[in-house]
Amino acid sequence: MTTNNNNVVWHHATVTRSRREQLNGHKGAILWFTGLSGSGKSTIAHAVEERLHQSGCRTFVFDGDNVRHGLCGDLGFSQKDRSENIRRIGEMVKLFLEAGSIVLTAFISPIRKDRERVRSLVPAGDFIEIYCRCPLDVCESRDVKGLYHRARSGEVKEFTGISSPYEAPEKPELVLDTNVCSLDECTGKVMALLSQRGIISK
Ligand code: ADX
Repeated sequence: MTTNNNNVVWHHATVTRSRREQLNGHKGAILWFTGLSGSGKSTIAHAVEERLHQSGCRTFVFDGDNVRHGLCGDLGFSQKDRSENIRRIGEMVKLFLEAGSIVLTAFISPIRKDRERVRSLVPAGDFIEIYCRCPLDVCESRDVKGLYHRARSGEVKEFTGISSPYEAPEKPELVLDTNVCSLDECTGKVMALLSQRGIISK
């Protein structure tokens, strides 16, 4: 993305990310949940956040339905708008990472290169891609928001998995088979990964 701000100089804070992390007692990270609508992204992200919060970590969850009311309220579901959605979220989570938080995002984020762009914005290892893998027919049968039904009837256009593509991650840091594993098991796997990577202490 080009910028119009050629005359703006980045201001360096004296309170750095590493000092914030020291104060927090854990490292910052981006837990990027991706998957079809209804695959469990938000539910797991919030359950992980609850566990982290209870152990004294600074966290924040961003999810599609919320961000699309505010920051991205002007965007729809064309490829272009979805890419812009993920680009803005990427810039936002980068700032949260700098603040030393563990950020959890729950966006379908269907396009691989959009997710990879976010990965490339932050230092290696800080972007943790978590694929909520769930067969389309299972997501569709859950149909929590009734959107699959409306997508099949053609009332909702460009719906991911029905009339718009979903590109599964090729090398995610973690795969959660949400049609097989319970919420507790999925949450446990994410927590284990965070310990393994030294983001939280064991
Ligand atoms: S993304 O593709 O740009 O990453 P995002 O996660 O922000 O999508 O928003 C997805 C949520 O918007 C879904 O969970 C669903 O509730 C709602 N939604 C409304 N229309 C669509 C659509 N055409 N495709 C996918 N999700 C939709």
